[in-house]
Amino acid sequence: MMHRSEKVWLILSFGMIIGFMLITGYQTFALEMGPPSYGERIDPQKVDETAPFDNPGIKKIGENEYEVVMILQVFSFTPNEIEVPAGSTVHFIMTSKDVVHGFQVADTNLNAMVVPGYVQKITQKFDKPGEYLVLCNEYCGAGHQMMSTTITVK
Ligand code: CUA
Repeated sequence: MMHRSEKVWLILSFGMIIGFMLITGYQTFALEMGPPSYGERIDPQKVDETAPFDNPGIKKIGENEYEVVMILQVFSFTPNEIEVPAGSTVHFIMTSKDVVHGFQVADTNLNAMVVPGYVQKITQKFDKPGEYLVLCNEYCGAGHQMMSTTITVK
């Protein structure tokens, strides 16, 4: 026979688990705090043949507006060199072919997680000319330290 107090604790701890699950679910779906913040998915095995990643690179899409389609993989960013005029708004569309990578741009607020299977979109305006260092800030393996590129604003 189970003690009455044991039953109470069982029910309490079970209730707590359900409670945490509800909170996490609420955060993920209602507050969009889950790792991929939007539902755009991609098959990480078929990145090279899935638009727009079948044609990575930089494209002018308007006055002072650019689109950068970027693929991240161990341990590189493709395209590797990006150059835009000062005052440009750049829309980054990114995905990973293998593991979770980071996309952090020094001297900006740009900091995104790039998860295989998902499309990450982030926009940044570059006003100040200079060389912006892009780093992977998610540990992705032996070459993680070397995973970097630059964005040149002139
Ligand atoms: Cu890619 Cu660290």
